[in-house]
Amino acid sequence: MPEACPAQRSKLFTPMPIRGFISRNRIMVSPMCQYAARDGLANDYHLVHLGRYALGGAGMVIAEATAVEERGRISSGDLGLWNDEQIAPLRKIADFIRQYGAVPGIQLAHAGRKASTQPPWHGNGPLTDADRLRDDPPWPVVGPSSVAAGAGWQTPQALDENGIAGIVRAFAEAARRADDAGFDLIDFHGAHGYLLHSFLSPISNLRDDRYGGSLENRMRFPLEAVDAVRRVWPENKAIFYRLSALDGLDGGWTLEDSAIFCRELYSRGVDVIDCSSGGAIADRSRDVRIRRGFGFHAPYSAYLRREAGGLVATVGLIVEGRQAEAILQAGEADIIAIGREFQDDPNWAHHAQAEIEGAAFDAWPQESGWWLDKRAGVLSKLREAGETPMDRYLSAE
Ligand SMILES: Cc1cc2nc3c(=O)[nH]c(=O)nc-3n(C[C@H](O)[C@H](O)[C@H](O)COP(=O)(O)O)c2cc1C
Repeated sequence: MPEACPAQRSKLFTPMPIRGFISRNRIMVSPMCQYAARDGLANDYHLVHLGRYALGGAGMVIAEATAVEERGRISSGDLGLWNDEQIAPLRKIADFIRQYGAVPGIQLAHAGRKASTQPPWHGNGPLTDADRLRDDPPWPVVGPSSVAAGAGWQTPQALDENGIAGIVRAFAEAARRADDAGFDLIDFHGAHGYLLHSFLSPISNLRDDRYGGSLENRMRFPLEAVDAVRRVWPENKAIFYRLSALDGLDGGWTLEDSAIFCRELYSRGVDVIDCSSGGAIADRSRDVRIRRGFGFHAPYSAYLRREAGGLVATVGLIVEGRQAEAILQAGEADIIAIGREFQDDPNWAHHAQAEIEGAAFDAWPQESGWWLDKRAGVLSKLREAGETPMDRYLSAE
């Protein structure tokens, strides 16, 4: 039997206090759009999708990009928090996640000029009139300037100052609803070419007013959104900010810009920088300077951690427990965010703990942990006896 109490505690499974909560470990489920909502409303699919990661041992579970206004949805299947009706089904999810030991979080988003898109399995491009046949019509999009994200994409309407102020208010209203729904953590979606990122990047922001031009001006709108949320979001609850650390394109947003921006974010009450990259333009194959190998954002999160001096999360092809632990041990991040690996293995956190600490089933929900513990004894006896599952069939050949 593996030891119930590991001799040496890993960093990955050392609990982490942030503001008023303690995450049981440093593993966060990265927000992942599921294209499964109607009218922005969460349903049982979202409860099962997110709930299984809490059962699977994650420390923080972050619900997907949730639109602060209807036209800010990436696709028509996105979650939303632009009206009060959307609170109750999300509350059920936040309650479930908390009940099973994880911190419930939600990503607040506005897709800007990259709104109105098809689900991946219908092309992942901009919605067109042809999509009306699937009852999925396009809607008008907004951005910092009248520049499309790529060929064939809609030209956004450039927001005026009233429009910007309206979206700042929408972020604050959505945060108030997220609080009401019982979430403890907000993750701003400030990455991947969506509205907040599109104001930062000189590729999409060609304005010549106080929201464009200098770095200070390009940072103004995202910082106003953060300030507005921090004012309504309770002191004891956390704010994470996902940013694209760099565009990876000529003339784009750089790592050095990010370091300056992150210092501003920390000074305004952001607790964790959630480090991603890219997406400034629709065609991701053009940001070739970002090489997407295992743990590919770790060098960027390490740089921001060092230069901006606060907590950072890193994400991107982190697939093994010992890899996650090595990233933390190397000081490249404070939190490990994981997306697709959790889709593949919702019990990833439990398996990672077994891998790096030799832990048994104590951390599993007892409804499965009790049985798996007993089964482990049976399996090990069979293996000791040299028996394999295919023996009977192979010997019959
Ligand atoms: C199905 C899917 C949906 C995603 N939706 C979001 C999202 O809503 N917000 C976000 O910031 N990133 C989103 N991402 C990016 C992931 O959060 C994550 O950063 C990325 O998949 C890299 O991490 P991974 O290699 O662990 O999957 C999505 C990724 C996938 C695969």
